[in-house]
Amino acid sequence: MARKQNAGMDIDEREKSKRIGALGGLWPFMRPHQLWIFGAFVALVFTAGISLILPLAVRRVIDGFGAATPHLLDKYFLAALGVATLLAVGTGLRYYLVTRLGERIVADIRKAVFDRVVGMSPAFYEKVMTGEVLSRITTDTTLILSVIGSSVSVALRNLFIFLGGLILMLFTSAKLTGLVLLLVPIVVVPIIVLGRRLRVLGRENQEWIAKSSGNASEVLLSVQTVQAFTHENISKNAFSELTERSFDSAKSRITTRAIMTVIVITMIFSGVVGVLWIGMHDVTDGDMSIGALVQFVIYAVMVAGAVGALSEIWSELQRAAGATERLVELLNAEDDVKDPVAPVTLTERPKGAIRFDNVTFHYPARPKQAALEGVSLQVKPGETVALVGPSGAGKSTIIQLLQRFYDPEQGQVSLDGVALGDMRRDDFRKYMALVPQDVVIFAASARENIRFGRPDATDAEVEEAAKAAAAHDFLSRLPEGYDTYVGERGVMLSGGQKQRIAIARAILRDAPVLLLDEATSALDAASERLVQAAVDELAQGRTTLIVAHRLATVKKANRIVVFDEGRIVAQGTHDELVEQDGLYASLARLQFTEGLSSD
Ligand SMILES: Nc1ncnc2c1ncn2[C@@H]1O[C@H](COP(=O)(O)OP(=O)(O)OP(=O)(O)O)[C@@H](O)[C@H]1O
Ligand SMILES: [Mg+2]
Repeated sequence: MARKQNAGMDIDEREKSKRIGALGGLWPFMRPHQLWIFGAFVALVFTAGISLILPLAVRRVIDGFGAATPHLLDKYFLAALGVATLLAVGTGLRYYLVTRLGERIVADIRKAVFDRVVGMSPAFYEKVMTGEVLSRITTDTTLILSVIGSSVSVALRNLFIFLGGLILMLFTSAKLTGLVLLLVPIVVVPIIVLGRRLRVLGRENQEWIAKSSGNASEVLLSVQTVQAFTHENISKNAFSELTERSFDSAKSRITTRAIMTVIVITMIFSGVVGVLWIGMHDVTDGDMSIGALVQFVIYAVMVAGAVGALSEIWSELQRAAGATERLVELLNAEDDVKDPVAPVTLTERPKGAIRFDNVTFHYPARPKQAALEGVSLQVKPGETVALVGPSGAGKSTIIQLLQRFYDPEQGQVSLDGVALGDMRRDDFRKYMALVPQDVVIFAASARENIRFGRPDATDAEVEEAAKAAAAHDFLSRLPEGYDTYVGERGVMLSGGQKQRIAIARAILRDAPVLLLDEATSALDAASERLVQAAVDELAQGRTTLIVAHRLATVKKANRIVVFDEGRIVAQGTHDELVEQDGLYASLARLQFTEGLSSD
């Protein structure tokens, strides 16, 4: 399966939403923190207010320069110092409140989403790719963090400064304000046009970078195959091609940016110089004081900065709205399989009687093809039943339904006479131990991997289980024994070792029902024998359903059930079934691996 590369890093690639209102989906997470929000808002208004007052102070100082006594000047400077300190404290406080709020909310969202998806049945993961779920938990929440933790506050502050600054500009000089407003479109239009072009080029550039790094990672992940087929030069050329393309697109982006810089700086400065020039005449004509002119210029710069900041933030808000939509979708996702409202609880450990009554089931992804059709099967407590049949016959599906990963459309599955649908899933699953067809090993120590079967087991119990699973010997020979890290997906273990760890895990769980989906991949004779011994130990005194691919396993079962195309076609012991000379006999001849040849 292709793993999604760089999950969590491709922020720019996440889709935006036109519906800014989607951000409202964050409210349930913000509501508990209203006090913080209020505090942040106050700090924000406070600092914006102070920023707006500062130019007034500057004017007083400048205009007072000639006339004022040194004593008065001292006072002005002291006041300026006080205001600056207030501004500093207010800004620090705002940063703290806003960012902390953002981090808190995002942590809550991450937990809520994870809690939601970790319980989802497999049908959900057939619809949404796991990589996409991960991107939502990591990248999309990061987007939201940047919005709550900065964009919103930056936007609000700039909005205040824009409005306040504009009003104060008007008060300072209506004439100059009018001139500036005339200038605005002349400066803003090229910025918007070139800015748009720049974004397109930026995205293009990003795509090329992504392609080239995707190409590199594919080659590097299979570097041995590349070398074995002496494919290096072809790979080098392909990578070089992609990298050059990305350079070319970077070049046009850089050129556009350079031109834009020239235009924008020229425009802005000519505008500023022009306005200053007119303002200067007003000053020499005595219509305006120097301080007022300086004050006006500062306001103009603040307002222009605010406009610039606001135009940047819009696209961030859209992106965060998209992220919110996707997270809310996950949070509201309905699971096809649900726990009952009034569940029957198992008061005692079940004996392990299993029953399938006329079960018909289609996988949601393949509604036309029945995976099971009219299957009825009873397994008595303590019985070992082998499920056999050609590939795709529906054997693993039986195990999936028994764990209630899916619900059958027809018929019912029950444990000790209680329908699975009437119980909470975690209530009956704790009485089942599963060894899946593809063994799952976690990136942790061997000990933790076994303990996964029963988290409260002691070290001694873990080792006992490992002994029973014929895993103790190899585990104690590992460099750090049971505490050896086994690598991601257990890459540092052999196939047979992984299987024995999985069996030890199931033994440790000590459940009355054992579900074993024998691996199809063949093991060498020695590992095979060890795994077989472990399985025998495990099946002792439990109801065991075992999907069998090995003759040795099949022969040991109390009963063999033969599946074909989703139906049970025969049942009996090995000898009886061979006698009938049906599907089983041919399977026995052709398909079962011999396994234990000593058997
Ligand atoms: N998640 C799924 N979505 C759709 N179809 C599925 C899914 N899992 C299995 N199937 C289909 O259901 C049928 C039964 O599959 P199942 O896994 O039960 O076969 P099996 O008997 O265990 O085969 P094998 O011996 O190869 O493991 C097959 O046709 C398979 O393609
Ligand atoms: Mg299978």
